[in-house]
Amino acid sequence: MTEAALQLIDVHKSFGHAKIIQGLNLEVAKGERHAIIGPNGAGKSTCFNLISGRFRPTSGRILLNGKEVGGKPAFEVNRLGLSRSFQVSNIFANMTVRENVRCSLLYSQGHGYAFWRNVGSSRELQEKTAWVLERVGLIDKAHTPAALLSYADQRTLEIAMTIAGDADVILLDEPTAGMSHSETEYAVELIRKATEGKTLVIVEHDMGVVFGLADRISVLVYGEIIATGKPEEIRGDPKVRSAYLGDDAEALTLGGAA
Ligand SMILES: Nc1ncnc2c1ncn2[C@@H]1O[C@H](COP(=O)(O)OP(=O)(O)OP(=O)(O)O)[C@@H](O)[C@H]1O
Ligand SMILES: [Mg+2]
Repeated sequence: MTEAALQLIDVHKSFGHAKIIQGLNLEVAKGERHAIIGPNGAGKSTCFNLISGRFRPTSGRILLNGKEVGGKPAFEVNRLGLSRSFQVSNIFANMTVRENVRCSLLYSQGHGYAFWRNVGSSRELQEKTAWVLERVGLIDKAHTPAALLSYADQRTLEIAMTIAGDADVILLDEPTAGMSHSETEYAVELIRKATEGKTLVIVEHDMGVVFGLADRISVLVYGEIIATGKPEEIRGDPKVRSAYLGDDAEALTLGGAA
């Protein structure tokens, strides 16, 4: 059996009386590209927040490369090899593109926030930053303040920052949301290349992206995974189709055909 990069075992999360995640079980193999889909409010981002250390699970276990990380702070989970992007962009608007990438590289190397502005000079750091920017097509905008980038470029920068470090497990939360068709295609290719050899868990509403990228798909509805399987298994699953109403069920078909 392939070793798991990520395992969630009977994970629960409540906010007050609201039970948002209810007995979630998920296993992602090393090197797999796994998509999590599900209706708005199903608990997808909460699931990422639990895995990445933003939230502490109410109960259950979360294992990263076999090590318990449930309840550990985010920087520690990052240090153990997991990097995530946010649904709402998390870049530093006042910093340049280059400074943003440099910050995420320093963070992934274990440096604290206060350290960031003073250590720009190491040659290795400069080279790695340039390499990342080259790879994502933002090298020409290295000196542009992030706030002045187009929306799609800001999302690309966020992807770049997530994959910049050496994390071998990458979580992307709706990386193509709000992008045009051609911007989405570019982002998908970028994600595919940049996560080669790594483990990817992606939350997405765009079924074209999901079916184009994922080796396996899990469907999260009301805090529970109702189905996990290969794209063709998920597309044909009646439980999944009934969880998606109207246009969304149609999207499932269209995504499958793309
Ligand atoms: N910090 C919080 N405190 C209280 N409730 C929360 C908190 N975070 C999320 N929730 C609730 O948990 C539920 C799931 O939210 P979540 O953001 O995980 O959904 P999602 O599947 O990512 O939805 P979307 O597709 O719209 O991004 C929602 O009802 C939300 O209001
Ligand atoms: Mg979300």
